[in-house]
Amino acid sequence: MDYLGPVELPFTGPWLLAPMEGVTEPCFRDLVLARNPSSQLGGAFTEFVRVVDHTLSRRVLREHLGPRRFEAPVGLQLMGANLDALESTAARAVEVGAPLLDINFGCPAKGALRGCAGSAVLRDPPMLERIVATCVRGAAGAVPVTAKIRAGDDDSNRIEEISRSVENGGADLLTIHCRTRQEHYCEEVDWSRIARAVEAVSIPVCGNGGIKTHSDLERMRIETGCTHVMVGQAALGDPWIFSGTTVESAEAAHFLLEYAGLLAERRGVSARGRAGRIKQLLRHWTAGGLVGQDRRGWLAEVEAEGLFERLNEMARPLSRSD
Ligand SMILES: Cc1cc2nc3c(=O)[nH]c(=O)nc-3n(C[C@H](O)[C@H](O)[C@H](O)COP(=O)(O)O)c2cc1C
Repeated sequence: MDYLGPVELPFTGPWLLAPMEGVTEPCFRDLVLARNPSSQLGGAFTEFVRVVDHTLSRRVLREHLGPRRFEAPVGLQLMGANLDALESTAARAVEVGAPLLDINFGCPAKGALRGCAGSAVLRDPPMLERIVATCVRGAAGAVPVTAKIRAGDDDSNRIEEISRSVENGGADLLTIHCRTRQEHYCEEVDWSRIARAVEAVSIPVCGNGGIKTHSDLERMRIETGCTHVMVGQAALGDPWIFSGTTVESAEAAHFLLEYAGLLAERRGVSARGRAGRIKQLLRHWTAGGLVGQDRRGWLAEVEAEGLFERLNEMARPLSRSD
């Protein structure tokens, strides 16, 4: 294959919102992108889009990219192992306007492992390299291609080898989630694994894993030498983590209500479904002291109306000043 050379990364700032299945669909993503300046939150990603054995339709790809555009780009994340389907889907994603393509090599779910995609590929660096090269070919130099790996499968011994496979495949950036597949989402993280990936390759590296507060973002960059930092779970609890803005409880409640509103308006999600989505965030929620000592109480709200009433009550001071 002709070497296409690196493509400039479109990120507008150093911090990135992680791809999260079931969460970073366009409604949630748009709210986070709207609340953080693009000089801080430099980009976001779709949840993974599984490519099995055929080219995904334009409609599916557009749905994942969503209706709104921000200054910070939203990369489309693909996951699969069928090279033909990946190449043609990558080309189509560019056609429908994806500003960046990312490849998932971290998903530990059984479905991904059965299809030999996601983190299953970490055991096979030559295959990983082929998948990256295939997506780079599909993107044909029109947009950058990035890849997101975990630190390894059972252990982190092969970080350097896996990282170099990403680089050799022609990726423009490597994101490393510093937990191994085996470690799932364990509390303890080892950022020195990110530093090892930085040492191993010459492309930019985005560090990921265990960010809890705004100050952790810069600390990870300094301690590991990575150029970008990606936040997953902490952004579910504090959508303002990228800018470090401290919000009042009313503003935090307002965010959750707006999220519920968008889910109803754009996707026709039922009240029960909306309450479920909000509770998913409340499990992580730290912003605005909203949850305080009563996380259990919030999560125990069985009826959707009870949950929305409570949020409306909390958001009231903001509605008055509007
Ligand atoms: C609910 C959830 C869904 C996720 N879905 C994806 C996904 O679709 N693609 C992906 O590459 N990683 C996915 N991840 C992993 C995150 O992108 C990130 O790597 C991980 O949460 C570690 O970052 P953190 O410690 O900041 O949470 C998911 C994580 C969570 C918690």
